[in-house]
Amino acid sequence: MPERSRVAVLVSGRGSNMAALIYASRAADCPYEVALVTGDNPEASGLALAQAEDVRVVRLPAPGEAGKRQFFDALQQVLEERRIDLIALAGFMRILPDDFVDAWNGRMLNIHPSLLPRHKGLKTHAACLAAGESTSGATVHLVTSELDSGEILGQVEVAVLPGDDEASLAERVLIAEHQLYPRILAEHASRPFNADWIEQQVDRLTHKLPEVGRKTSHGSPGWSVGGEKGKLFAIIANQHHGEDAIGLLVKASGPDEMTGLIETQPEKYYWPKYYGASGWLGMKLNRRDVDWAEVADWLERSWRACAPPRLTKLMRAAEEF
Ligand code: GRF
Repeated sequence: MPERSRVAVLVSGRGSNMAALIYASRAADCPYEVALVTGDNPEASGLALAQAEDVRVVRLPAPGEAGKRQFFDALQQVLEERRIDLIALAGFMRILPDDFVDAWNGRMLNIHPSLLPRHKGLKTHAACLAAGESTSGATVHLVTSELDSGEILGQVEVAVLPGDDEASLAERVLIAEHQLYPRILAEHASRPFNADWIEQQVDRLTHKLPEVGRKTSHGSPGWSVGGEKGKLFAIIANQHHGEDAIGLLVKASGPDEMTGLIETQPEKYYWPKYYGASGWLGMKLNRRDVDWAEVADWLERSWRACAPPRLTKLMRAAEEF
């Protein structure tokens, strides 16, 4: 199993979701650990609980005193010092600055007590009851700069009972939250090492290129250009022949470029067994910090190297247009 992801939980108040995340992390096979609990309110009871549970707590001065900019700069610094991989917002009641959101793009989760996209923002239980809905629930989603609107990672439904008021509904939804959040955070933490997820990302990127088809290469998933009979330009080699990598094989310009890249960036590139000899460069994709824009660039390069002239001509014409 790869090292556990280091999670920072950000709270403003009671921290019952934080507690659920901490207790779930105590399972031997949990793919994350809570490496930091912090927030915008040094008096939050959640911080005292985390401390009692021997989790590292950092009490930052409340932004009211220090100013919002200083607060988020100080927070970012603590996150870096603690080598945090993922942030879990758990009742963190601050609007985040855009640059902070961008810096944690894809690596910051939030829990919201409604079935998003229904009832964004505050007072969700009141809104659900006022709308006369028969179900409510909880959602874990990625954080983007638009409030409660990032990719939904998981949801759980909760029945609204006749006679429910805000408090009784909130109480039941909270039970569901405590089940949902640790499970979805665990899934998200293992995602970078999950071969199916990696294949989906590559598939999504390859389909941005023209005339791409699926094909296998000795049983491995591959992508070809120019129809079914077209040339393979990308292959996934999932821990082939004892290799550690879940690798994406793409066509480099030749052995010089390959050895250069492998020597200077061995954490990213490798010489794949058997395939290396025919010009395939291996990119290690089972890493936490894969730059998917760079993977997309390599796929496009490899596509160009393998595409028939009629397609590369079309591509050039489109670029000149
Ligand atoms: C939860 O209902 C959560 O969904 C919302 O704020 C509340 C926090 O509660 N974002 P707690 O501090 O986790 O107990």
